Amino acid sequence: MQINFTDTRPSDARLVAHIVDKGKMPSGLEASIDEGASVARFEGKPGQFFDSFVERGGKTVRVALAGAGEPGVDARHANLEKAGAALAASYLTSGAKEIVLDLSGSGLDHIEACAALLGLRLRSWRYDIYRTRMKDEQKVTLESVTVVGAPDGTEAEWANYAALAEGIDFTRELVAEPANKVYPVSFVERCEKRFDGTGAKLVVLDEDAMEELGMGALLGVGQGSEQPSRLLAIEWNGGGDEKPIAFVGKGVTFDTGGISIKPGPGMWDMKWDMGGAGAVAGAMLALVKRKAKANIVGVVGLVENMPDGKAQRPGDIVTSMSGQTIEVLNTDAEGRLVLCDALHWVQTEYSPARIVDFATLTGAMLIALGNEHGGMFANDDTLAEDLLAAGRQTGDKLWRMPLGPAYDKLIDSPISDMKNIGPREAGSITAAQFLKRFIMDDTPWAHCDIAGMVWSEKPGHTWGKGATGYGVRLMDQLVRNTIEN
Ligand code: BES
Ligand code: MN
Ligand code: ZN
Repeated sequence: MQINFTDTRPSDARLVAHIVDKGKMPSGLEASIDEGASVARFEGKPGQFFDSFVERGGKTVRVALAGAGEPGVDARHANLEKAGAALAASYLTSGAKEIVLDLSGSGLDHIEACAALLGLRLRSWRYDIYRTRMKDEQKVTLESVTVVGAPDGTEAEWANYAALAEGIDFTRELVAEPANKVYPVSFVERCEKRFDGTGAKLVVLDEDAMEELGMGALLGVGQGSEQPSRLLAIEWNGGGDEKPIAFVGKGVTFDTGGISIKPGPGMWDMKWDMGGAGAVAGAMLALVKRKAKANIVGVVGLVENMPDGKAQRPGDIVTSMSGQTIEVLNTDAEGRLVLCDALHWVQTEYSPARIVDFATLTGAMLIALGNEHGGMFANDDTLAEDLLAAGRQTGDKLWRMPLGPAYDKLIDSPISDMKNIGPREAGSITAAQFLKRFIMDDTPWAHCDIAGMVWSEKPGHTWGKGATGYGVRLMDQLVRNTIEN
C-alpha cells in the first residue's frame, strides 16, 4: 500500500476519512454526518467506525470517521493504531482504491499521526497468492492512502514506521507460507533477496560447516529430513564499536514431532514453528531498513523435524557444540536442541552484550498464557524490565515467568549431562532451564516463548486471521529504548 502526503485535499476525492477523538467531531462536516453519527452512537471510542455519503460539488463522497478515544492516555498510540486499522478493515475490499485521510484540525502530533497510519498499513496486509479463484468482491482494492494536513514532521517520521511495517510484513509472509515453500534453504534465499543492497551482512552455515563446529544437537533434529539444515546470521553494524545485541530465533520450518510424532489433527499449525526465526528476520529487516544506530546480530537455526529411517530416535544421545551431551527422550522437544547450538554459536562468534531468543517452544506456554502474552524468562532483571516495557509500548505483550535451580534439576539425566524433557508439569520452565545451560558467564539473556502469539485464529487490532508478526515491534522498540538513546 502506497502512503502519500499532500497539502491540499485532492478535488476528486471520493472517500475522505477523519480520525476522531472521543466526543470531538471534526468541525465543518455536513449536518447529515453529525446527525448520522449521533444516531449510530458514534462517539469516537477507540476503533469505533462510522461512514456515510454526502454530496459535495455535485459528486457523491463517502465520509468516514474512525474513533481514537481520549487524548493523553497511556494507550494513546495503540488507540490511534486501532483507528487506522478500522479504516483498513472497512475499505480493504470495499471497491475503494484510495482513502484521503484528512488530518487537518485533528490535533494529532506527528508521532500520533504515524501511529494511525501504522495501524492502517498493518491491518491492510493480506496474502492471497494461492487463491486463484477469488471473486472480484473478495479481492483487495485499496491501493493508496493520501494524507492531507499531516502535522509537521509526519512524512519524515513515517519512513521509520514504513521500515517497521516492511519488517512485520516479511515476518507474516515467512510464517504464512507452508512448509513446502519455506524450508531452511528457501528461508535463507528469501532473506538474501530481502537484505540485498541494504548493507546488512548475511552469514550462512551449511550442514558441513555445522558438522565441523560440532553442532550435534541442531543437526540431530534435521537428520530425518530431506531438507538440509541451515544456520543464518544477519549482521547489522549501525553503531560504534560496542558489542552487539543478539536476537536468536527457532526456525523449525515444519515440526511433525519426528519419531515422537504428533497427532494428525492440528499438525498443519506446525508450519509456523519457525515463528521465532520469522520474527528475528523481520525485526532485522526493520532495523536495517531504518538504519538503526546500533550493532545487532540476528541468528536463526533452520531445520525440518521429520520421522524417517534416518531420523534420530528417542533415547539417542547427541553432543552439542558446547560439548554438553543431551539425551533426546522426546524428538518433539526439538526447538531447544536447535536453539542450544545457535545460542552457543552466537556467543563464541560475537560475544554479544545481551541475548534475546524467540521461539514457539512449548504447547504448555499456550496453556498458561493463551494468546495474550508471550512468556518471558530471564537471568537478568534489567533486561527483563526492558523487554516488559517494550512490550507495553508496542502491544507485543510479555509476561515474566520464573527460573530456578529446583526446575533446573528436573532435566538432569542419569546417563548424560541433561535430557531434553522434564516431567509434564512446568513444561515451559524446564524448556527455558535447558536453554539457560547454554548461556556463558551470566551474559544477560532472555527467552521469549511465543507459541501463543505467532498465529491468530481471529482478527486482532492490527492483524487479520493468521500470521500476526508478533515480536518485530518488540525487538525494534528494545533497540530504540536501550541502545539508540
Ligand atoms: N513446536 C512445539 C510447541 C508448540 C505447540 C508450539 C503448539 C505452538 C503450538 C514444540 O516443538 C513441541 O512440540 N513441544 C512439546 C514439548 C514436549 C514434548 C516436552 C510440547 O509442547 O508438547
Ligand atoms: Mn516439537
Ligand atoms: Zn517445535
